[in-house]
Amino acid sequence: MTTQSELIEKINEKYTKMGLDPEAFYKGLLYSKPINYWDYIEVESLLSLQKPRTDYPDEMVFIMYHQVTELLLNMMIHEMNQVCNCIDIKADFFIEKLGRMNRYIQMLANSFDVMRLGMNPKQYNEFRFSLTPASGFQCASFRFAEICSTDIENLVDTRIKNNLPANYDTTFLFENIYWQAAGKDHKTGKKSYLLNLFEEKYLEKFIAMANEYKTKNIWQKYSSMSETDKKNPALIQALKELDIEFNIKWPLVHLRAAEQYLDNGSKVIEATGGSDWKKYLHPMYQKRVFFPGLWTTDELNNWAKDYK
Ligand code: HEM
Repeated sequence: MTTQSELIEKINEKYTKMGLDPEAFYKGLLYSKPINYWDYIEVESLLSLQKPRTDYPDEMVFIMYHQVTELLLNMMIHEMNQVCNCIDIKADFFIEKLGRMNRYIQMLANSFDVMRLGMNPKQYNEFRFSLTPASGFQCASFRFAEICSTDIENLVDTRIKNNLPANYDTTFLFENIYWQAAGKDHKTGKKSYLLNLFEEKYLEKFIAMANEYKTKNIWQKYSSMSETDKKNPALIQALKELDIEFNIKWPLVHLRAAEQYLDNGSKVIEATGGSDWKKYLHPMYQKRVFFPGLWTTDELNNWAKDYK
């Protein structure tokens, strides 16, 4: 154990090395207030971020569950970045980080009922008009997680993915990315208001990030490992689990919630974002796969077929 004088010695050394006077820091300690939970966690700021646009009480459930999703997605991205920025990555570290990513996305998939069952459909179908044309589609954290995970080629619309031109750039890939199908008329190329706003806000950032992560996304990190590491069954399992949770299970629980609120059996209601959502949101249609190299052709052709 470090004695008190050793500790003081170390502190003096630390600040002197930085060219700073240690005494000023001792004085700072003497006068500063001890930290408390509410300041450290920023509880008041956090709880001031819910601003319903109507008087329907269940709109609060809707806002807070979206905010919980944003936080968990960013906890995932935090783990993803530790993998992407790791030089000379080792299998154990990779598996540990993937384990955390998988637990976060599982939390999201398993907790969707908190909102789906917690929110009154009648209230939703009234307060949702005050949100038009906003949509969860515009959640950039989902797209950041995708860019951290794989090559953008893997996110291209299935109609184009297998027939890419000989030369293309990142802008071309984003023009043909799977999520264009939510707002672009495939024949005329005309984009919806939802999509135009989303791209105005984020496209430049997505392209810059995709260029930066081209050589360091999770798939590239895995591909750069030794042949022995690449065969590590726990690593392969963890990567495949991320694909299943992010690209099948979450999309399916989300789709089931959309169906409960927007499809009453006799009539499919138009979504606030205006997409052909019943078709678009299904993982079998999107066929978004982060690590296609780990799946057989048969598994890829039947993507999501065995999941309800
Ligand atoms: C009653 C609850 C919900 C309904 C009815 C619903 C409905 C929809 C619909 C119809 C779309 C397609 C785009 C559009 O036309 O608007 C969509 C997209 C999306 N929503 Fe939701 N949603 C709900 C809750 C959530 C929650 C809690 C989140 C969490 C952030 C979320 C995140 C997303 C994302 C990321 C997309 C884009 C999916 C993709 O591109 O594959 N949604 N949602």
